[in-house]
Amino acid sequence: MLSAMDTVVTLERRDDGIAIITLCNGKVNALSRAVTGQLAAIADELRNDPPKVVIVTGGDRIFAAGADISEFGGPEEAREVTIAIHTALDAIAALPRFVIAEVAGYALGGGCELAMACDYRVASTKAVFGQPEILLGIIPGGGGTQRLRELVGISRAKELCLTGRQVAADEALRIGLADEVVDHEALRERILELAGQIARGATVAQALTKQAIDEGADLSLTDGLRREQDLFVEVFTSEDSQIGVRSFLEHGPGKAEFTGN
Ligand code: COA
Repeated sequence: MLSAMDTVVTLERRDDGIAIITLCNGKVNALSRAVTGQLAAIADELRNDPPKVVIVTGGDRIFAAGADISEFGGPEEAREVTIAIHTALDAIAALPRFVIAEVAGYALGGGCELAMACDYRVASTKAVFGQPEILLGIIPGGGGTQRLRELVGISRAKELCLTGRQVAADEALRIGLADEVVDHEALRERILELAGQIARGATVAQALTKQAIDEGADLSLTDGLRREQDLFVEVFTSEDSQIGVRSFLEHGPGKAEFTGN
């Protein structure tokens, strides 16, 4: 039996600015109350003291098998479960940094929802995605109906959520559920390469870019375009904007060494 103090999610903060969140909850990484609570606490910590880039990872065979079904009951428990999962996943999604999901294996139900709450999904050839809730007679409760629709479109989202069909890595890539698929053995290397590239970049501009794109998703095109203008003005208050522009004028493109400020 799990005690409230057991660590089921870890945070590693590396010197190069990469933070790695790892789910480590038993055999299948079910998103139990303990997991969502610790995930939300880690997201809070990262929001208050942001690294340069975040990686979210799970097990080598199972990224996460979804909500902890043993914690289900009636509508009252359901409300608690959905609030806990949404709180954690929304906190991850709202981090002002690029968040990369490393999906090595099954990402089902809440696992798929967690991967979708990240900004970008790099999957191994062994990854499997799906929203199997319908097979339990329930519906996704961690954002699945909404974030899946955003990624794969309305009809594919309905087909996947209404059948509970599992999607292998190559199909996930084709429909936009995964953004990259790499050999299972090369997954961590590719993730660190991408994360390293982001970590060396202009952090303030990255954060404002993410903000512009995410806020725009909830706005009309006209309002989104106005929002981008405001953020474009704001980015010029950053040190890196001065470094980047000066470096371009003096040395040409792609040579700037950013401070992250
Ligand atoms: N919540 C709670 N327990 C879960 C779980 C979940 N989401 N998913 C798996 N488990 C448990 C199983 O009941 C089993 O328990 P047991 O060892 O006491 O019998 C154990 O984890 C291992 O699962 P098992 O199915 O035997 O492992 P597997 O390696 O054959 O398959 C999965 C792994 C992830 C493919 C499979 O467990 C699965 O499909 N899980 C459910 C996914 C799901 O429906 N998620 C949506 C939840 S709303």
